[in-house]
Amino acid sequence: MNEKIIELFERHPNEFLSGEQLSEKLNCSRTAIWKHIEALRQQGYRFEAVSRKGYRLIAKPDRLDVGRLSASLSTKAMGRTIRYIDEADSTQNVLHRLAEEGAEEGTLVIAERQTAGRGRMGRGWHSPKGKGIWMSLLLRPRVPLHFTPQLTLLAAVALCRAIRGATNVDAGIKWPNDLLANGKKISGILLESKAEDERLKYIVAGIGISANLEPDDYPEELQDKATSLFIESGRPVDRAALIAAFLHEFEVLYSLFHEQGFAPVRMMWEALSVSLHRTVRCQMPNGYVEGVAESIDDSGALTVRVASGERVKVYSGDVELR
Ligand code: BTN
Repeated sequence: MNEKIIELFERHPNEFLSGEQLSEKLNCSRTAIWKHIEALRQQGYRFEAVSRKGYRLIAKPDRLDVGRLSASLSTKAMGRTIRYIDEADSTQNVLHRLAEEGAEEGTLVIAERQTAGRGRMGRGWHSPKGKGIWMSLLLRPRVPLHFTPQLTLLAAVALCRAIRGATNVDAGIKWPNDLLANGKKISGILLESKAEDERLKYIVAGIGISANLEPDDYPEELQDKATSLFIESGRPVDRAALIAAFLHEFEVLYSLFHEQGFAPVRMMWEALSVSLHRTVRCQMPNGYVEGVAESIDDSGALTVRVASGERVKVYSGDVELR
């Protein structure tokens, strides 16, 4: 019954529904409706109640519904074991520990909040409570260590496809694996690998998606660089549905990668890229390189044609779109 009540409110966003309307539609007494609304309030739903108008749903609980997420998975391995925590320093740290204890491929750690979320190149990752998707996925790929950059690009393709499918946000990939919407960052990916004697043991793939953050949730220094799916689409994101979509896309591409190598993923990456055929400025260990981003190669490196016509390969770092 609680689910039916929420469904009704979701079909009438921002509208008041009276106790009478609800009891007629759901075929139960007004007292029963009142009791269910109170039970939903206990679960974190917030209703505005106005006499003679009824109830209006104003906020949903900010906890991820892990039961619904697990039930909706279409994958064989990815996300089949989920560790859901309220607060972590970083989901990367939690999953590294589980990996060392022998956790299986596809194990997923999700936190509602991170106190020391980390990004690429030693940066931090802003991870406020209940608004985003802060998660790490364990991979035990059967490929040599130097294939890791390709998996980074694969993760970006999977995420971009999931976002485009689950929301109306026109996300694109900025090399190597930032997702942008309207030129601002909506998501970041951080792959950390563990090797022994040059052999790849496992990869912890960290994914941060700014799902339901509102403008005030960003510190000032991020306000003109970062955005969220909610800000871009004007609609709250169903985080469980987006995670399930990502895991599905990821698993399909991951199998394809093991069967056919990087070529199909590379083509998809190029089709979703917002960096190619643009002038870019890349920070290199010994200064900047500026030129037109032409393509990515089989190792995932970006080829940039500089003014002299020379082609320079960029293997890591950041690019700025000009
Ligand atoms: C970046 O763009 O710099 C990568 C950001 C990666 C953030 C995610 S959030 C979940 C996981 N845990 C972390 O501490 N970082 C990654």
